[in-house]
Amino acid sequence: MIKTIEWTDEGVRMIDQRKLPTVEEYPVFSTYMDVAEAIRSMVVRGAPAIGVAAAMGVALGVRDSKARTTADLKRDFDHISNVISATRPTAVNLFWAVERMKRVFDRMVTEKADHKTIATRLIEEAIAILNEDIENNKRMGQFGQALLPDSGTILTHCNAGALATAGYGTALGVIRAAIENGKRLHVIADETRPFLQGARLTAWELWKDDIDVRVIADNMAGSFMRLGLIDAVIVGADRIAANGDVANKIGTYPVAVLARQHDIPFYVAAPISTLDMKIPDGSHIPIEQRDPLEVTHIGGVRMVPEGVNVFNPAFDVTPNHLVTAIITELGVARPPYLESLRCLS
Ligand code: MRU
Repeated sequence: MIKTIEWTDEGVRMIDQRKLPTVEEYPVFSTYMDVAEAIRSMVVRGAPAIGVAAAMGVALGVRDSKARTTADLKRDFDHISNVISATRPTAVNLFWAVERMKRVFDRMVTEKADHKTIATRLIEEAIAILNEDIENNKRMGQFGQALLPDSGTILTHCNAGALATAGYGTALGVIRAAIENGKRLHVIADETRPFLQGARLTAWELWKDDIDVRVIADNMAGSFMRLGLIDAVIVGADRIAANGDVANKIGTYPVAVLARQHDIPFYVAAPISTLDMKIPDGSHIPIEQRDPLEVTHIGGVRMVPEGVNVFNPAFDVTPNHLVTAIITELGVARPPYLESLRCLS
């Protein structure tokens, strides 16, 4: 299994996803600032993986803090959390993980634990988040695989696989589970412009696992559906509002519209940590705007004339009425999501 992210005494070891599929490198990020920069610059990406990286970054920062008093350590904790929370705004798993680390920190401080004990406990918590993520994905896989046909072709957008999580994946985890259960599935991966998570990452990890995958340019999906070549769509999520509106990689919404037009089920697979029950609907989800260079250039080569401006929103919101079901580690939610998600969360 690919080790997307791992705790080591030297720091957080992560596969550098910017370099895939041509170079497979596992650098170690030895300060919380380095981990924050790795999240911001997409060394690590995908909502659950960002959550694990954030938790490990917090643990690393607290361990290496020079604070001599509890008050100083608290100040350092808040600063580290703020730096990590400011890296990427959309995936709620990042904030969920930082909050979870804060609850542990506050409890340890109340218990008057010393610096070393607090650091050890935070490292344990970050590793627990990683291990739970893999277990949750496997559970999600079992719930989700039952929804997929015994044979056929599944379209996915972006990368919601082992690389986007601590391992196994959410949407790709469901496909993996279906194949492990004997289903004969083929995968079509949208290339996912501008960052090419589908072409570079989904294709790479499925190919490594011997799962049949073909990449298409994003604008081909509609034609494939019209020709009857897609049996189901499954994607991951970065944040799901209480009413079931889903933020995911830019380009997910048009795929959902196309799926509805062609009567193809559109599934979302995401852990409970991706639910944001505090926001009523998708209009409250902050959408990250990324560097225009990601759109103007491909592989360092300029594609857009110098001086022409571009837009680069990294995510879109798919309204709940286009989502056939939301698959979580606790079960499958169906419309109306306000009720079904509340029951699960
Ligand atoms: O910008 P990214 O690559 O972090 O975006 C990732 C996605 O949109 C994924 O589909 C989502 O995080 C789900 S990953 C299990």
